[in-house]
Amino acid sequence: MHSSRRGSPKGSDVLVIGGGIIGLVSAWRAARRGLRTVLADPAPGGGAAQVAAGMLAAVTELHYGEETLLGLNVASAARYPEFAAELAEASGGMDIGYRACGTLAVALDADDRLHLRELHALQRRCGLESQWLTGRECRRLEPMLAPGVRGGLRVDGDHQVDPRRLAAALLAACERAGVSVHRASAARLLVAGDRATGALLDDGTELGAGQTVLAAGSFSGQLPGVPPEVDIPVRPVKGQVLRLTVPAPYAPFLSRTVRAVVRGSHVYLVPRENGELVIGATSEELGWDTTVTAGGVYELLRDAHELVPGITELPLTETRAGLRPGSPDNAPLLGPTALPGLHLATGHYRNGVLLTPLTGDVMAELLATGTVPELARPFTPGRFTEARQESYA
Ligand code: GLY
Repeated sequence: MHSSRRGSPKGSDVLVIGGGIIGLVSAWRAARRGLRTVLADPAPGGGAAQVAAGMLAAVTELHYGEETLLGLNVASAARYPEFAAELAEASGGMDIGYRACGTLAVALDADDRLHLRELHALQRRCGLESQWLTGRECRRLEPMLAPGVRGGLRVDGDHQVDPRRLAAALLAACERAGVSVHRASAARLLVAGDRATGALLDDGTELGAGQTVLAAGSFSGQLPGVPPEVDIPVRPVKGQVLRLTVPAPYAPFLSRTVRAVVRGSHVYLVPRENGELVIGATSEELGWDTTVTAGGVYELLRDAHELVPGITELPLTETRAGLRPGSPDNAPLLGPTALPGLHLATGHYRNGVLLTPLTGDVMAELLATGTVPELARPFTPGRFTEARQESYA
């Protein structure tokens, strides 16, 4: 057996630290491969997924220089229909709100229009499908849009899922697949000799494991006991998000996700079938702060109102802030570290919900066979260490 697959005689094959959607999907998929799996989290199913809007925006959130990440994002988006069906079955019938609704990205002024034109050109160069629409055509698709909309991009392949329902279904699927869920925090990574051997929890429990997956979102770089040669360059990037409710007589308020860049800030409105309308998101580098601020709420409402003036009629039902796990190149860290037995599944930044199906498959393959699938090799954690070594050479 490959050395990275050694099981602990007293423990499990796999310990997953962190029960957000990335930890849960890794644990579920590992258990489905026949690995004895435990997961530690004080509140499994929580984390950034409780805040996220759930856009599957591989095409509309494309950025210059992120073409390799695009391949991963598109592959994960393509897996979603099958993943949703599999998860529904594995969770005992829970629906994750996968909705193939498409997205409309619009421009409100000449600068926004230029930005969208550039994005359209980049999408075409990358072979992605999107269609340029005039302002009038945008309003024909979405009559609630402001009359001043100057044009837009219709992207029929960017859909949505409800991240809260996704987290709940993954937790149920884990429990049904035999994952042992410990409701406590990891206090320290356990290391013996040259390898990770599990973790000590803050309730005193020691969980031994042949392989440990650190999937603690923006907190992944904070675990005591991780040796200094293991580089986990993950930082929190705060996002404030609002939830409104569309009362039945107003529905359908919007039929697809509508988004724009207003004065340089991204704003999006994600309409759910149950009447929830999610408005996001700020992007703030403020450490671990998750305060909802008057300024954040004001900016989101101001920008969303410029896009869709009718939102002022809707009840504002929730305001919340979460922390995206940002990485130096905005792409996830998936795979083994410099410490044998310790793997990372973190750093998903703006794409955690989108990359959930693919992350589960990649981590399960690594845990079961010791091999990172080809598609994910550009995203192994060693890329940052190697880049630093090259720059010092
Ligand atoms: N992908 C949406 C966000 O991070 O705000």
